[in-house]
Amino acid sequence: MQATIALLPGDGIGPEVVAEGVRVLNAVAAAYGHSFAYREALLGGCAIDATGSPLPAATLAACEAADAVLLGAVGGPKWDDPRAKVRPEQGLLGLRKALGLYANLRPVAVPEQLAERSPLRPELVRGVDLIVVRELTGGIYFGAKESVFIRPDEERAYDTCVYTTSEIARVVRRAADLARQRRGLLTSVDKANVLETSRLWRRVTTEIVAHEYPDLRLEHILVDACAMHLLRRPADFDVIVTENMFGDILTDEASMLTGSLGMLPSASLGDGQRGLYEPIHGSAPDIAGQGRANPLATILSTALLLRHSLGLEAEAAAVEAAVAATLEQGIVTADLAAAGSAYSTEAVGTAVVAALQRQPVAA
Ligand SMILES: NC(=O)c1ccc[n+]([C@@H]2O[C@H](COP(=O)([O-])OP(=O)(O)OC[C@H]3O[C@@H](n4cnc5c(N)ncnc54)[C@H](O)[C@@H]3O)[C@@H](O)[C@H]2O)c1
Repeated sequence: MQATIALLPGDGIGPEVVAEGVRVLNAVAAAYGHSFAYREALLGGCAIDATGSPLPAATLAACEAADAVLLGAVGGPKWDDPRAKVRPEQGLLGLRKALGLYANLRPVAVPEQLAERSPLRPELVRGVDLIVVRELTGGIYFGAKESVFIRPDEERAYDTCVYTTSEIARVVRRAADLARQRRGLLTSVDKANVLETSRLWRRVTTEIVAHEYPDLRLEHILVDACAMHLLRRPADFDVIVTENMFGDILTDEASMLTGSLGMLPSASLGDGQRGLYEPIHGSAPDIAGQGRANPLATILSTALLLRHSLGLEAEAAAVEAAVAATLEQGIVTADLAAAGSAYSTEAVGTAVVAALQRQPVAA
């Protein structure tokens, strides 16, 4: 297969981890006979420095022309002034919106080698393998909002949560498709005992699953109960689908099950195949330029890219298996290593590439 991938390394450790992601993609291309062309572009702080805009028109054009986008991270102390008119994260939000990426997928799997590192007891997180699908472009973050003085000493603010049937339906279908490829359990999270938008969410979800996915098991859980169950019985979940703000909070909670920010990939998808893939961590300015960043979240993001944008499931699984083999060998960066036994960003990337090359290529 031939594919074009836009690369947005961004700021801080972004370029270091994206470089390892590209080495892994090149190893996949060589092993499976694919041809990947890369178009590198500026996003975030580095784009502000070079052009004055966090999302230059040339970057958006490169992403729109690509089959998939691989992003590092944006931001850093240099651009952190809250009074600044242009900020790095505007580039990321603008890009998600411009590409119509309404479904954010965050897989959380706890490899056996990392079970001891979780803030939860190892027996609770063993076997955790779930995906949270968060609605990304609707809900309370995008509804009408205002803060006004109703008296000189009294200010009144409101935010409005709005969802339409079609906004709910498209993200529920994305999640249901995933559940069908996995263990067949779809958990829809809402607050239907209180919120009108949640009652609509529950009705639409129930109808779609009943008519289009009768083979799935569907459960509805209230968001407060879900927050509790994620800590009490995380291994029971398969695919969780929820609206924007509930997903924002639950994905951060779920991400801590592994105990390491440097391990967690994400995918943002819209209609069609093109998606944006990035580690969930930020630009980690405290360790930038030192070769200490864990590249595995970015490498696992390339697996999601292969699976969701290029339809290359065997290749995606091969990357995930190579990451597991690297962890098995104890080749990890400082965030996961015992004192004195840490490998560099590049050494971890090299180990993943070597593990990939050792695997037999699936026909
Ligand atoms: N999607 C994004 O681009 C994104 C997300 C979050 C934060 N940010 C930005 O990143 C900057 C730093 O934010 P922060 O410090 O709150 O979050 P961060 O995720 O960058 O770092 C938090 C801590 O985790 C460590 N860490 C993060 N990724 C790591 C990795 N791959 N390997 C090893 N250690 C890792 C860092 O060293 C730091 O101690 C800010 O400017 C913030 O706005 C960007």
